[in-house]
Amino acid sequence: MNILDIIEKKRDKRELSKDEIQYFIQGYTDGRVMDYQASALIMAIYLNGMTKKETTDLTLSMANSGEILNLDSLNKIIVDKHSTGGVGDKVSLILLPIIASLDIPVAKMSGRGLGFTGGTVDKLQSIPGYRTDINVKEFIENVKNVRISIISQTLNLAPADKKIYALRDSISCVESIPLIASSIMSKKIASGAEKIVLDVTVGSGAFMKNIENATKLAKEMIEIGKLAKKETVCVLTNMDEPLGYAVGNNLEVIEAINFLNKNMPNDLKEVVLELGAYMIKLAGRGKNIQENKEKMIENIENGKAFDKFLELIKNQGGDISYIKNTDKFEKAKYIVPVYSDEDGYISEINAESIGKLACYLGAGRMKKEDKIDYSVGIVLNKKVSEKIEKNDILGYIYANNKQKAENAIKEFKEIVKISKIKTKKIDTIIEIID
Ligand code: URA
Repeated sequence: MNILDIIEKKRDKRELSKDEIQYFIQGYTDGRVMDYQASALIMAIYLNGMTKKETTDLTLSMANSGEILNLDSLNKIIVDKHSTGGVGDKVSLILLPIIASLDIPVAKMSGRGLGFTGGTVDKLQSIPGYRTDINVKEFIENVKNVRISIISQTLNLAPADKKIYALRDSISCVESIPLIASSIMSKKIASGAEKIVLDVTVGSGAFMKNIENATKLAKEMIEIGKLAKKETVCVLTNMDEPLGYAVGNNLEVIEAINFLNKNMPNDLKEVVLELGAYMIKLAGRGKNIQENKEKMIENIENGKAFDKFLELIKNQGGDISYIKNTDKFEKAKYIVPVYSDEDGYISEINAESIGKLACYLGAGRMKKEDKIDYSVGIVLNKKVSEKIEKNDILGYIYANNKQKAENAIKEFKEIVKISKIKTKKIDTIIEIID
């Protein structure tokens, strides 16, 4: 067997065998398959797709490319959560401390930004001192001691995904059902949880642009979950406009902290509560979705969820004075309000365009070695369907470069569409698939 034959086979739209997929995954993980060969194969998969059997074989090979965590010592049902990616998606930062505050353990391996979407790890790293790269022992100890740990993929968990994830990002091969399904499910299998809740985003700011493709992705991940004996529930959520108001790393951390301090934007609240209610259900801690949401709200109201967030950050070396006083976060040099030129109603804020604009300002990576600027991004002031008057503020640009700030203002005004007719508010929760 050799990699050239495997690339040729996929290029010519033929099905790869389990052994061929394993050969590629092992070879790429240990460096025998070169980046340019992996790029060619990934592009062929992107263009020609994979059968369900190929996707399953790819997922299991990736999961087995490193260690599989054993969380049995926690003596509890561990429920994991993952999102297929979005713009302004700070859900994990909010939801996971709420879940841990209900005494349900959270052992979460998160990702970096991918394409125009942000990543939880980049956001957490905007908190001075927070360590995302702890070892397995410390990870499990943290979950035992404070019920929660959120880390990056630095442990030897699904290392093949780590390499392929970064590669896909640098060769424009992100939006693919087999590649997303295998990336997410390999990580979830490797990180040892028994049950999984997936936020499958749909719309302009998601990798799945329509409900049909998102449903297909959800069903493939559920099937892989079944094979791996991991009960999986998918919540399809809307990502046509950014989630919440802030887009950019420390800006989103601040919004998450405000949320845990009871300042909850509606769309963000709906997503957090829906996903959380299913996590609680899968953990065996409540069958009634509405009651589960109420338990979550109670722990926001009584401050337990915020205290758990503080504990998480402190336990992993983060400076909690920033969490207690968000004014301490580094601020962009230019914070510029953008004013509306007309009266009307906001009819569209294309989330993908906002994500790309945030990347242009420095909030994301263009190349895998790029450094992120944690303080830049965009903060919306109005959301779709809201009324706007001439000279009202549409949003704020946070930039560290004057020219970029000026370009971003122009671009932002083009992204935010205004109509004379009131547009319907976007429904946030689309469907539950299990
Ligand atoms: N999140 C992942 O972990 N992988 C993807 O491919 C997309 C979102």
